[in-house]
Amino acid sequence: MSTKFIINPGGCLRGSLRVPGDKSISHRSIMLGALAEGTTEISGFLEGEDTLATLAAFQTMGVNISRNNGQISIQGVGLHGLKAPNSPLYLGNSGTSMRLLSGLMVGQNFSVEMTGDASLSRRPMRRVTKPLSLMGANISTNADGTPPLKINGNSLQAINYNLPIASAQVKSAILLAGLYANGKTCVTEPAPTRDHTERMLAGFGYSVTRDANTICLQGGGKLQAHSIDVPADISSAAFFIVAACIAKDSELSLTHVGINATRIGIINILQQMGADISLTNQHEVSGELVADIHIRSSQLHGIHIPPQQVPLAIDEFPAIFIAAACAEGKTVLTGAAELRVKESDRIQVMADGLNIIGIKAEATADGMIIQGGKIQGGIINSHGDHRIAMAFTIAALRANETITVTDCANVATSFPNFVKLSQQAGINLSEQ
Ligand code: S3P
Repeated sequence: MSTKFIINPGGCLRGSLRVPGDKSISHRSIMLGALAEGTTEISGFLEGEDTLATLAAFQTMGVNISRNNGQISIQGVGLHGLKAPNSPLYLGNSGTSMRLLSGLMVGQNFSVEMTGDASLSRRPMRRVTKPLSLMGANISTNADGTPPLKINGNSLQAINYNLPIASAQVKSAILLAGLYANGKTCVTEPAPTRDHTERMLAGFGYSVTRDANTICLQGGGKLQAHSIDVPADISSAAFFIVAACIAKDSELSLTHVGINATRIGIINILQQMGADISLTNQHEVSGELVADIHIRSSQLHGIHIPPQQVPLAIDEFPAIFIAAACAEGKTVLTGAAELRVKESDRIQVMADGLNIIGIKAEATADGMIIQGGKIQGGIINSHGDHRIAMAFTIAALRANETITVTDCANVATSFPNFVKLSQQAGINLSEQ
């Protein structure tokens, strides 16, 4: 909790980096690998605290999983082979673990409780318990809809569900429960969200159909083990993409990054702001598009962020707000109320932090208005949110004094070697 980042001002980014594996894909690879028939080998797995929480949960439920430097081998137990855990599943900071697992746990023939850290214990869970209850699930939360989740597994009925919010976690929870349900489960999303669950189910030989914004699967099938190569996480790359845009004289390449169309809002938004970003070497691995991303410094300008880009960049706004702080003119974000219920209230915490470092930023109910300006030094509380800590780290590239960020230990949830890679790339970061 007391980990601090101290970042001296200035610096430029040069060279070529590979950031760790995609968090969303890593979680799903453990879940589906554990429930498949046969052995699943995973390379490029993110060994961060969040994905390791998912891995440990399946070990607790009797799945044999070995790991060695990003190489994971899972002896799948089949969809009905999990064993009842003899203690609650502790999922740390990881909303993805809790929400996706809730979909899988409701169809088991045992009871389970899922808990998390202080941040996860404040996050809304009714968005998953409501549709799962409609399927016949026996699942409960605290009176205010927060964890722990208590589940008594039982038989499920398929539903057709219209998602009230654009959420890949909720969509995935329902589809995963649908594997266990009688009949055909369909989810309609209000806007496209990351589609890794659908792609990976198909990779495991499970038929998933998409018609416009509706995704369906039939319960009662099987998952067939296969090998997965996890691309580098565009959400981790985002910090270096913005860093190389805003730092003078930078020229950086990020290799083997996942560029799934449902994740590239960061690139679309920065390019609209005038960023010099190009992609090369595009190809598909394990059903996901990857590329090398090349970034050069550029003078950004403020924009009104197109609302349809919001779900495609939902985790990248802390980094995008720093880009906006360095841009000429005003950047306006609307339609992003979801940011208030992430690992922290990312609208309030980012607006407060930007004000501390001398940038005019006004939090609104569903977004922010940021006036580009000159960044000063200051002390920023990250509120234990990994992406807030990394965002203010890169802000120092354009600051006139040192920036100190407190409560940074949770950077290890998604980006365990962030300090080392930042130093290698040219950021004057030290950890205390
Ligand atoms: C995720 C979906 C997003 C994202 C989270 C990971 C996933 O959450 O913010 O970091 O892996 O499905 P929502 O579904 O709540 O938007």
